[in-house]
Amino acid sequence: MNATSNNPWGTGRGNGKTVLLGEHAVVYGMPAIAAGISLGASARASAAERSSIRIGEQSSVAGDDSELSRALEQVCGELGAGPHSVEVEVNLPLGSGLGGSAAIGVAVARALLAARGEQEGEARVLAGAAAWERVFHGNPSGVDAAAAYSGSCIWFTKAGGPEPMFVAAPLELAICLAGPPASTKQMVENVRQLGERRPDLLGKSLAGIEVLVKNARLCIEAGDRSALGQLMNLNQMLLAGLFLSTPEIERACAVARDAGALGAKLTGAGGGGAVIALAEASAAPLEAAFREAGFTAFSTRIAASPAAGVKL
Ligand code: PMV
Repeated sequence: MNATSNNPWGTGRGNGKTVLLGEHAVVYGMPAIAAGISLGASARASAAERSSIRIGEQSSVAGDDSELSRALEQVCGELGAGPHSVEVEVNLPLGSGLGGSAAIGVAVARALLAARGEQEGEARVLAGAAAWERVFHGNPSGVDAAAAYSGSCIWFTKAGGPEPMFVAAPLELAICLAGPPASTKQMVENVRQLGERRPDLLGKSLAGIEVLVKNARLCIEAGDRSALGQLMNLNQMLLAGLFLSTPEIERACAVARDAGALGAKLTGAGGGGAVIALAEASAAPLEAAFREAGFTAFSTRIAASPAAGVKL
């Protein structure tokens, strides 16, 4: 690393995320509901003579033609920052539909702004993260970066951006990794190609998903977890109809439902990666069932909104 010791380090963090409902449809302008999870990425950045970036074991310097160095160049360009030395730590499985790349993009954008002594604002951080994401994703909707920034539950549309959501009762989720990660860019492209071949199928599926997402918002605002779980199951069916599921994802969903999950579905791009399961109370039994079935699993909680406990 070639950071000059006199240059201050700025630090920043980005959360991983889970899409509760609406992935892929969100690329076509439909709403999605997403939430930040506690795992994520943290970055530190310092002005340097030449840009360089290290993420865990992987490192890259300006001009080496890697995606990493191009992504850093794009974020620096977007934020009007000169060359920087950047170090990133990630405690989230990458490429699994948990928004790893957006978490890194948000962390890097925040660290760059902090290193420059600039006030961070949502628009600036999201613009920086979007520049990062475009290198890896091609055509990201922005939902990942918005959830990585907010860390809590959001309603997201491409046109309207993120909107904080009221969460009446906490949502306990078990998350498992159902097979090797798939490329988000590839899965989004597969859906686009399917839409070219079968516009009727894609159109009807997107309309169906939109209805589910809108109803899910009402469930989350009312604290109706059972109904939310059923909507998640239906969303999984529609995603499977778009060829985004795999036998391992279906097996993981079945394991979770057999263990008492209110609903289970893939989250993110599909084709592998993560499955989320909504628990009635604690997610521990679902996490245990996933592990018993041979999956890597963990639990996370989407907290209720602060005002949710207040009796009106
Ligand atoms: O696979 P992930 O975590 O990057 O999730 C992407 C969500 C999609 O809707 C599939 C793509 C997007 O840009 O919104």
